[in-house]
Amino acid sequence: MATVLAIETSCDETAVAIVNNRNVCSSVVASQIPLHQTYGGIVPEVASREHLITINPCIEQALAQSQLNWEDIDGVAATVAPGLVGALMVGTTAAKTLAIVHQKPFVGVHHLEGHIYATYLSESTWEPPFLCLLVSGGHTSLIRVEDCGVYEQLGATRDDAAGEAFDKVARLLNLGYPGGPVIDRLAKTGNPQAFPLPEGRVSLPAGGYHPYDSSFSGLKTAVLRLVQKLEKEDKNSFPVADIAASFQETVARSLRKKTIACALDYGLNSIAVGGGVAANSELRKQLQKAGKQHNLKIHFPPLKLCTDNAAMIGCAAADHLNRGHISSLTLNVTSRLSVTEVMQLYQKSN
Ligand code: KG4
Ligand code: ZN
Repeated sequence: MATVLAIETSCDETAVAIVNNRNVCSSVVASQIPLHQTYGGIVPEVASREHLITINPCIEQALAQSQLNWEDIDGVAATVAPGLVGALMVGTTAAKTLAIVHQKPFVGVHHLEGHIYATYLSESTWEPPFLCLLVSGGHTSLIRVEDCGVYEQLGATRDDAAGEAFDKVARLLNLGYPGGPVIDRLAKTGNPQAFPLPEGRVSLPAGGYHPYDSSFSGLKTAVLRLVQKLEKEDKNSFPVADIAASFQETVARSLRKKTIACALDYGLNSIAVGGGVAANSELRKQLQKAGKQHNLKIHFPPLKLCTDNAAMIGCAAADHLNRGHISSLTLNVTSRLSVTEVMQLYQKSN
C-alpha cells in the first residue's frame, strides 16, 4: 500500500500530489494558463521557467495539506515522458533530488498512463481490462488497458489531437486559449446542425476507412474555409455559436463512433475517458447515450482529474511501486514515448 509524492510538469500545469494507492491525500495544481494566454498557446521556454518558480511552493503546499511527514512517504514520482523536455526536466530533477535527500525510490511515470489512472482515483473499484479513450491537447488515443504497464494502442490521431483541434479552431474564431472550454460554452447557444463538417476519417490504401484512427486537420481546414466564406458573405452577423456547435458535434460524433466500435469489436464492456477533452459536454452526452444503447459502462472522471494533475501520476506510481517497479536515477526525460513502452521506465527491484 504505497504512499507516493508525485510531481507533474509535462506541459503548462505545475502539480504536486500525495497519493496512497487510490486515495488522494493532497493535490496542488498551479495552472500557467493565464501566462500563456498572452501568446495564444503554450511557449515551452516560458513554461519551464514558470515551473522552476512554482515547484517548491507546490511541494511544500502538498506536504502541508496531506499532514504527512517524509517517514510516511514510500517513494517520489515524476512524469518523465511524453511532454515538453524543458518542462519535464524541472519536475523530474525535483523528484530525483527529493528521492536522494530522503532516501526513497524514484518512480518515473508516463503521462498517458497517469491519465488512465485518473479513472481509479474516481472509481476505486474499477479494474482492467477496459478501453480508455484519451483525448487531450497532445493525444487522441484508444488504449486497451490490460494491467499495470500493459497497454495496447488500438487507435490514434494521424495529425492534430482532439484538444489541439479545439485550440486551433478557437484561435481562428478569435476566442483565445485554451479553446475547449470556450467552444463548449458557446456551443450551448448554437445550432449543431447549422454547418455540415467532415468527420475526420482516415482512408486505408486498400479502400474504406481505418475503424479507430482519427484525423482532425481536415476538419480544422474545413472550419477555416467556412469562416472565410461567411466573412465574405456578411461581416455583421457572424454565426460564431453555430460554428462552435457544429464543430464540437462533429468531433464528439467522430470520437464516439470510433470508441464504441472499438469497444464492441474487442469485447470490452467498460470504457474510461481521460484527458482535458473528456471535460467536453457534447462528448459526455454522446458517449453516455451510446453506452446505454450498447450496454457499455462509461466512466468520466471529475473535471479536476481529467485535466493535468499530479494525483493521477501518484496513483500510477503507487501501483508500480507496489509491484516493485522502480526507476533508475539516471533515467532521462523524453518528449515522445509510446504508452505501450512504459515498462522501459523501470528496473525490477530485488
Ligand atoms: O489533458 P490536458 O489538461 O493537457 C494535455 O495533456 O494536453 O488537456 C488540455 C486540452 C486543451 O486542448 C483544451 O482545449 C482541452 O483539453 N479542453 C477541452 C475542454 N476543456 C479542456 N476540450 C473540449 N471541451 C472542453 N470542455
Ligand atoms: Zn495531459
